Amino acid sequence: MNVLITGGTRGIGAALADRFRANGDDVLAPGSRELPMQDPKAITTFCKDISNLNILVCNAGVYPDHGQTLETGYSPDDWANTFAINVTGVFLTIQACLPALRAAQNAKIVIISSQMASDTRAPGGSYIYRASKAAVLNLGRNLSSDLKPDGIPVGIYHPGYVRTEMGGSNADISVAESADGMMERINALSLGTTGEFLTWDGRIHPY
Ligand SMILES: NC(=O)c1ccc[n+]([C@@H]2O[C@H](COP(=O)([O-])OP(=O)(O)OC[C@H]3O[C@@H](n4cnc5c(N)ncnc54)[C@H](OP(=O)(O)O)[C@@H]3O)[C@@H](O)[C@H]2O)c1
Repeated sequence: MNVLITGGTRGIGAALADRFRANGDDVLAPGSRELPMQDPKAITTFCKDISNLNILVCNAGVYPDHGQTLETGYSPDDWANTFAINVTGVFLTIQACLPALRAAQNAKIVIISSQMASDTRAPGGSYIYRASKAAVLNLGRNLSSDLKPDGIPVGIYHPGYVRTEMGGSNADISVAESADGMMERINALSLGTTGEFLTWDGRIHPY
């Protein structure tokens, strides 16, 4: 299979790339230099060279407003940059890869959102990151409707609270645990489950 994983240079994306490669798949796993999510032209240029794509994992993401305060944080620049990377970049990558996904057999789209996308679970703080992950969840749910006639399922996932550069050393689970769970979710994703918002270990996540 041909697999593209955005944000594949480290953390969860790199661990997923290792697992697909171990299965014998051809994997592209660019980071922010090769496929900068905030650069629409770079996305178009990168994706136009891909003619056949079985799995697209939209994993790249940033979380710049961690720990910012309501009084002094959440600058307009942080809002704009985070949405460009976490939301617009995801949409443009999927759009640019659509011809290659349509050309493949049994193509799938995987969107890495977060439990912080949930409106049900709303402890406050991290307004920008939460809003961006909620937006990308919404995007995935609507794409799942539009792409069903093409036979392309879309899954949206919370990968766990993971010990990466983003998650920090006090997070709940290791990168390996998250990636093993995510591989199970990706393998199980089908037109019957398209639009699902699940946790890394297969539980339905409330919106
Ligand atoms: N860790 C957690 O606890 C957790 C929880 C819920 C959801 N998530 C989500 O899971 C995904 C992966 O998180 P992670 O913890 O593995 O993060 P990470 O360790 O910080 O890695 C982030 C990855 O995204 C890439 N990236 C950053 N900015 C980018 C940009 N502007 N354009 C393209 N790529 C960019 C990085 O590439 P470079 O190496 O080039 O910088 C890197 O490969 C993210 O979407 C995150 O929001 C993580």
